[in-house]
Amino acid sequence: MPPAGPTYDLVIAANRLPVDKVVADDGEVEWRRSPGGLVTAMESVMRTQPGAWVGWAGDAGEAPEPFDEHGIYLHPVSLSADEVRDYYEGFANDTLWPIYHDVIVPATFHREWWASYQAVNERFAEAVAQVAAEGARVWVQDYQLQLVPALVRKLRPDVRIGWFNHIPFPPVELFAQLPWRAQLLEGLLGADFLGFQRQADARNFVRACRQLLGASTKRDRVTVEGAHRQVRAAAIPISVDFQGLEELAKRPDVMARAREIRASVGDPEVLMLGVDRLDYTKGIRHRLKAYEELLSERHLGPPEVTLVQVATPSRERVDAYRNLRAEIEQTVGRINGELGKIGAPAVHYMHHSYPREEMAALFQAADVMLVTPLRDGMNLVAKEYVTCRHDLGGALVLSEFTGAWHELHQAFACNPHDIEGLKQTILRAVNTPAKDKQRIMKALRRRVADHDVQRWAARYLAALDAAPDQPSPETRGRPTPHAQETPLMPAPAEAAEAAEAAGTAGTPARGVRS
Ligand code: ADP
Ligand code: F6P
Repeated sequence: MPPAGPTYDLVIAANRLPVDKVVADDGEVEWRRSPGGLVTAMESVMRTQPGAWVGWAGDAGEAPEPFDEHGIYLHPVSLSADEVRDYYEGFANDTLWPIYHDVIVPATFHREWWASYQAVNERFAEAVAQVAAEGARVWVQDYQLQLVPALVRKLRPDVRIGWFNHIPFPPVELFAQLPWRAQLLEGLLGADFLGFQRQADARNFVRACRQLLGASTKRDRVTVEGAHRQVRAAAIPISVDFQGLEELAKRPDVMARAREIRASVGDPEVLMLGVDRLDYTKGIRHRLKAYEELLSERHLGPPEVTLVQVATPSRERVDAYRNLRAEIEQTVGRINGELGKIGAPAVHYMHHSYPREEMAALFQAADVMLVTPLRDGMNLVAKEYVTCRHDLGGALVLSEFTGAWHELHQAFACNPHDIEGLKQTILRAVNTPAKDKQRIMKALRRRVADHDVQRWAARYLAALDAAPDQPSPETRGRPTPHAQETPLMPAPAEAAEAAEAAGTAGTPARGVRS
């Protein structure tokens, strides 16, 4: 089928577009920034180069016409109300999400959800095939679209296909529970290069291919299609737009707002902050429990200490999320009722989304940032916090079960399951001398500055271009335009590392053990 509209050399496919369509009661349409780390990261990558973004507009029904937004061509994919229920809330967020996050809540399996997941993945693949230029790079995102790589390969054997998983990839013992495990692996193996947050995730994937498909694997490679093709799976951890966010955090109005926030919660000696999508993976309950005990044991207390908990609304029609919200709100009410003072609540709880400026101000206002997930692919909030602390103030308490912890070792590490340990870590973060905390913050900031999202994208695309696949029969003999055409090639200083990540340096890639 010839393309009906413009085509692009770089095409992103993600469940959500970077903006959600919101229809007000009077029928007025408004576009709002979509929630989550994927959009934060991919939006800053896509703003720096021409490309198309294929995704859902967040609303059931017909898809809006494609449109340009800040230089990105947005190509909406429609989801019916049934598909929102079965593909998005059901299979993506009630089957895959729990399995991929250590089964913190039980996963639900329904064959009709799987059918819907297949149908929606097919629709995404068709949309990608329409907007991808000859020989384009197609970059599929996350667990919602695991069948898309193989489907796109069938429709468009000329394109180069990558997939990046923003969330963990589970150990084979958990993944094996999925009745459709083989189809999911085969869907992913349609890609040329598969990127993961941690080495452990990439290893889990390769092991699943070996054990569940009987595929032949060597180090980070899986051989497919009767030995005609190889797919590489490696860790390339995602990051934030350090420079852009730091600039924002240095703006005088943002810094003034940070002071205003502190004043509005009573200028406490210690302002603690939690910022999360309201998701059971984020360990909000564990954080509140530790905080409540610290207060009731009188280690801490308002008005000297207060906690601001920002919980972004998320997946509100899925039972586990509804139950979590009720539980968190009840707990906050109890803590404030029992341990707050008039004019000095122990917890300030906000269930909203905020503009980026407000988030940057909140981060600057916080003396202690509590990042306590039970499992998290990366956790960009942790990286955003240190990026905003150009004053070297603040302390980051960080769960060992986040991808971020694998890079931010100097943070105050915690195991959120160990409430006693978490309490001690919070107290250490409060009581460590300012000078030592500044030294720690400096090291954390250096790490994020050196490994920002632009570098991540450059490394990813270099790895995709250099992936071991032989050109398919259809494209053999044709020049491969990718390597020369990318505007996001790594800077010279990064070239060696990118080559290493791409597996072209003759040694195993960094972050991938053989
Ligand atoms: P996830 O992708 O699971 O939501 P991350 O921590 O990786 O988790 O990313 C969350 C992103 O959403 C960050 O960029 C963070 O700043 C943003 N965010 C979280 N809460 C809010 C909020 N209340 N308002 C605006 N942005 C938010
Ligand atoms: O990677 C985690 C993720 O699922 C992303 O796909 C998305 O950025 C975020 O969480 C928000 O989730 P949802 O799109 O379901 O609101």
